[in-house]
Amino acid sequence: MTSSHVLRQETNCGFWFIRDEGRAFEVNVDTYAVLAALVRGRGHVRKEGHRFTAGATALPQDLTAALQRHGLTPGATPGWDTVRLIPLPPNPPTDAAVAPKRIYFEITRACNLACRHCFNNSHFPLPHELSLDEILDVNRQAEEMGVFEIRYTGGECTRHPDFRAIVDDARRRGLYVSIGTNGVYSPEQLEWLPTSGVDWFIISLDGDRDTNDAIRGRGSYDAVMTTLAALATHPHLRVRLNMVVARNNVATIADVAQVAADTGVASLNLIPLRPYGRATRHMTQAMFSKADFYAFISEVNRLRVLHPHVDFSTTIDLLDPTKTTSHDRLVRKHRTCAAGIEACVVGPLGHVYGCSYSPASFPDTIDETSAAFIAGSLRDDPLATIWSESARWRAFRDLEEFKHPKCLTCRHYTIRCSGSCQIMAYYEQTKAADPDSPLSAFCDPYCFADLLDEAWPSPEGDGR
Ligand SMILES: C[S@@+](CC[C@H](N)C(=O)[O-])C[C@H]1O[C@@H](n2cnc3c(N)ncnc32)[C@H](O)[C@@H]1O
Ligand code: SF4
Ligand code: SF4
Repeated sequence: MTSSHVLRQETNCGFWFIRDEGRAFEVNVDTYAVLAALVRGRGHVRKEGHRFTAGATALPQDLTAALQRHGLTPGATPGWDTVRLIPLPPNPPTDAAVAPKRIYFEITRACNLACRHCFNNSHFPLPHELSLDEILDVNRQAEEMGVFEIRYTGGECTRHPDFRAIVDDARRRGLYVSIGTNGVYSPEQLEWLPTSGVDWFIISLDGDRDTNDAIRGRGSYDAVMTTLAALATHPHLRVRLNMVVARNNVATIADVAQVAADTGVASLNLIPLRPYGRATRHMTQAMFSKADFYAFISEVNRLRVLHPHVDFSTTIDLLDPTKTTSHDRLVRKHRTCAAGIEACVVGPLGHVYGCSYSPASFPDTIDETSAAFIAGSLRDDPLATIWSESARWRAFRDLEEFKHPKCLTCRHYTIRCSGSCQIMAYYEQTKAADPDSPLSAFCDPYCFADLLDEAWPSPEGDGR
């Protein structure tokens, strides 16, 4: 039977993952133990030969109510056989989740577009990309490890010739399926994609028609509008827009926010341009300065008020009215971002790494630098082995090595910011006069905390 829930044990807590919502709730160790007993006893806790339901009273009331809303009533059998129990693995990492909560799986670098900013140079497939069997084996390993969500991306994942089979397999395994996609589909794709089993469409739109098409190619804006209209007729589907923001399109964020509001899109993710791939050839001059970034965040806040039904997310969001380091249903991004801690990337040749913006994204030109960002290859080791060996993940898990010291005393750290991004610090390091300085000497160039402090030297309510 396909599972609808995952109950996963962590070293110091547990997660109850609700597949249909793509959402995970953290529970403490005691609550996990009661829930695990209920799953094993199919809704009943057995003790000393008796069958009783004391578990219900040992659970927090709001959790019991939430369980019931999802068809899991302590003391009643139905529903509990749809919960897959993932106990602690033998050697869990101490500085990361026991397994990724989400895998970003780049199944191909083939793409129907060739965007000017594309950080991984997608258009043509790489030689020796993973075969269908290898891709399905990643799905299998993800299920076994208790991964919650698999996000197919690329390249353009929907162009993979076996995409239907890949999605079918992931759904059968109880994974929540999301796709990072350009939304430029043929009529046939528009027919089948909304009912393909994909739960969450994350579609790129980089501005109004002229601005978007200058980056993504003529006709792409209209194609996305057609796709959004088609998806809107399937209200159970979750839809997000991704917009890569820089000086060239910052003036059109309001237009994209309006599209989101008009088409019932639930969230708009604004990604500051990263200086990689084709962006380094065409667009580094468009990158935000610190002051630009501050102005951009102010604009995001203005739009939050204008469009209360759209959830806006971005990085270093120090003006966010909610105290959060993450607008995500799965990952928390507390002391650092999710890369290598709560999530990982599987590249098109089977490499496993923390962040697709890192030098690890260029598997055809691996050198000493990019190798430092790669934790392993699925062609050599299983994912569980790669994930559990923290020594492989120093670039993502060794915070002392890369977090800028000013983050550690910053009043925003872990409240509204998960701290300086090591990949952006790496980028700064490559440009620096003294590139031998340690990574922690370079702060994220988008950090505008000092500008904010000048504007509001002592904001109240930050709780620090
Ligand atoms: C590489 S694409 C793959 C998925 C799909 N083809 C698409 O365009 O949405 C993944 C995401 O990265 C974004 N992206 C591309 N180049 C970028 C860059 N230089 N900096 C930040 N994000 C970028 C894309 O706009 C997209 O939202
Ligand atoms: S950003 Fe997406 S759509 Fe554009 S070239 Fe890269 S992979 Fe293709
Ligand atoms: S110094 Fe900047 S990057 Fe670091 S925690 Fe503070 S706001 Fe975030």
